[in-house]
Amino acid sequence: MSLLIKNGRIVTAGEQYTADIYCEGEQITRIGAKLEAPPKATIVDAKGKYVFPGFIDPHVHVYLPFMGTFAKDTHETASKAALVGGTTTIIEMICQARNEQPLADGFEFSLKKAEGKSACDFTFHQTVSRFDKECEDQLTEIVKKGISSFKIFLAYKGALGITDEELYYTLRLAKKLGVITTAHCENADLVLESQKKLLAEGKTGPEWHYWSRPPRVQAEGVHHLMTFAETHDAHCYVVHTSCEESLQEALAAAARGVHVWTEILVEYLVLDKSYAELPNFEGAKYVMSPPLPDKKNQEVFWNALRQRFVSTVGTDHAPFDFKGQKEMGRGDFTKIPNGIPALEDRVNLLYTHGVAEGRIDLSTFVDCASTQAARLFGLFPRKGTIAVGSDADLVVYDPDYRGKISQKTMLMNVDYSAFEGWPIKGRPHVVTVRGEIAAKDGKFVGTVGRGKLVKRDPTHF
Ligand code: URP
Ligand code: ZN
Ligand code: ZN
Repeated sequence: MSLLIKNGRIVTAGEQYTADIYCEGEQITRIGAKLEAPPKATIVDAKGKYVFPGFIDPHVHVYLPFMGTFAKDTHETASKAALVGGTTTIIEMICQARNEQPLADGFEFSLKKAEGKSACDFTFHQTVSRFDKECEDQLTEIVKKGISSFKIFLAYKGALGITDEELYYTLRLAKKLGVITTAHCENADLVLESQKKLLAEGKTGPEWHYWSRPPRVQAEGVHHLMTFAETHDAHCYVVHTSCEESLQEALAAAARGVHVWTEILVEYLVLDKSYAELPNFEGAKYVMSPPLPDKKNQEVFWNALRQRFVSTVGTDHAPFDFKGQKEMGRGDFTKIPNGIPALEDRVNLLYTHGVAEGRIDLSTFVDCASTQAARLFGLFPRKGTIAVGSDADLVVYDPDYRGKISQKTMLMNVDYSAFEGWPIKGRPHVVTVRGEIAAKDGKFVGTVGRGKLVKRDPTHF
């Protein structure tokens, strides 16, 4: 397999220059001017286009049994959608409920689900939904198999959430193993009691979801996590930070020496809580946790991204159909499956609203949508950059493309788009995974099942 990408404007988190990229087999083997290729090589003309490293989504749900139903995508549909949208590696949350199977079985189950089905590369954050000696031993083995990040939930009491005692021992183990712990931070009891109160007052529509978990509920969760992290000097990553209050808690902890990084979601950059207030239950399409924030947070987040106070932009992709799934919560917002599909749209939305609108520059775009996830989660420099020896995961991006997002043309397996009719400026022209062209101008042309588990060593000692 030989691939030559000619005359593109190469953009990494640190550099921008015009050159050719030659890939032999699965890796980049040469970068330079006027490179020659053997006659059998595939040649891509990238003149007038950017060449980015393959994008990495650090927060994706594919197999997700949740709130009495299952997220809609399979690894085939999710990976095709990811690739068409420029994402070449996904990090999926293994989400096994607290009292289900042993953690080791959950890991093997998730691996089997993805292997042979995924067209893009993948890895997992291993959820710790309970903690005891057996879990400790199994987690230690899972880390040896190449999974160097945990996921914990301070929310979803009784289902995925852990107790403070379990939090204490999980972070102690994470520190010992050099594993970074990703965390959903919301105070579970505050959510539960607020939900009960709102429902008792007859406040049952999707617009009340926000009020059951307002910013302080999340900020308290972040504060809580930071206190425990500090105790063990454990490294933590706050997933889906959705409000200024939470960001401030994380930044205050970082300033006193806690090792903490934050993720925001593309949804929080472009949507706000008014979407969950849409009439006729339409707002249910926009119910996720933490809830879409007040619009004033958007400027804070763009500024924080630009200043690199926020490390990554993910999606928390969690697709539930409007019909039959979101509808389960008609008359009771606490039963609306939480989640918004966005895996296919993340890169284009971030480019359109970030780069094209002048809010962030190209290198920041690459850094927060690819490089930082690679660095934090042990994928770098194999993924997340363009360098000799790195995997040939490349996105030749056409900044002049103009189009619209629509459920009718998307590959995510769900019956609505949260961004229906939204214009986009720019999209991937060619996307490669380890040297093979996997997507072209909005079409999947890759190989289902070619995606590999990317093994990761612990780096957070
Ligand atoms: O609403 C969300 N975020 N759904 C997926 C589960 C989670 O909390 O990440
Ligand atoms: Zn979450
Ligand atoms: Zn999630």
